[in-house]
Amino acid sequence: MTDQRSSINTPVNANKAREAARKPGEPLLQVEDLSMWVKGDKGKIQILHELNFTVGEGERWAIAGESGAGKSMTMNALTALLPQGAVEISGKIWYRQEDGSRVNVLELPYRERQSMLARQVAVIFQDSINALNPNERIVKQWSETVLLYHPEMEKEALTQHLLSRMEIFGIHGGENTLRQYPDQLSGGMRQRIAIAMALESPGRILIADEPTTSLDAITQRSTVEFIRKLLDESGRTLLYISHNLGILQYMCDHVMILRYGYIVEQGESENVFSHPQHPYTQELISETRKIMG
Ligand SMILES: Nc1ncnc2c1ncn2[C@@H]1O[C@H](COP(=O)(O)OP(=O)(O)OP(=O)(O)O)[C@@H](O)[C@H]1O
Ligand SMILES: [Mg+2]
Repeated sequence: MTDQRSSINTPVNANKAREAARKPGEPLLQVEDLSMWVKGDKGKIQILHELNFTVGEGERWAIAGESGAGKSMTMNALTALLPQGAVEISGKIWYRQEDGSRVNVLELPYRERQSMLARQVAVIFQDSINALNPNERIVKQWSETVLLYHPEMEKEALTQHLLSRMEIFGIHGGENTLRQYPDQLSGGMRQRIAIAMALESPGRILIADEPTTSLDAITQRSTVEFIRKLLDESGRTLLYISHNLGILQYMCDHVMILRYGYIVEQGESENVFSHPQHPYTQELISETRKIMG
């Protein structure tokens, strides 16, 4: 039997140092007074207001809140994926490194920040279903992603790697599927490929922004189960953004509720969902219950 756990964590060579550096429960990501502004026609607009939270290694955090609350922008701040100069950020974002030291990534020059975050964080984007390049075969896009992290990998090993990842991720059709263009595959299949590609990153933290919204209910459920299984096997830390409180409750052990760019409430999800303190959280939960019947 193959060891799925090591193949999910580290696609090629088992990275023992990474495993040894794991410290479940200890702070992995600490955000202090994080504020963010975007530059608009009428000057700067503040969209995140002094966010404070600490994510322990192995924890699964839900980020909830209505449309426009700042969920995706929080993800952008944590991953430095916006073009340099597009936003202004203040505060501190500490990541614990494998040697145990902490780095405030906002102090790093932009390029260094980006490359460090690429190593620390795997990202599934809100529109990942459309993130694949429609003009390139799956095999080309996926291979390029693998080679980013393993530039030394030879063609034969690369093909074997892709095929074994397809098996793990439940992507059928082997080399035939790899030869297809994204449009030739179903939405569910594209989504799984996008997730599989995101998880080529060795990042100990997975940030998933609405990873299942564009899927039908059955595929949505199997994708959620699938992400959960991957996390169980790899011990990665999760930040999961969704409007679907049911999924968040199922997936996550902690939750933060955002509104107008402020965190209005945070804590263990069991507490927050069963005894919401803030009126907005109470409203969000009761509205969801009404919809769910
Ligand atoms: N480039 C921009 N210029 C001005 N305002 C922006 C820009 N990008 C985002 N915003 C604003 O920032 C706020 C937060 O947006 P964000 O995309 O983080 O919301 P969200 O919580 O992810 O919403 P959704 O659930 O709809 O995805 C919104 O009010 C949005 O209008
Ligand atoms: Mg969003």
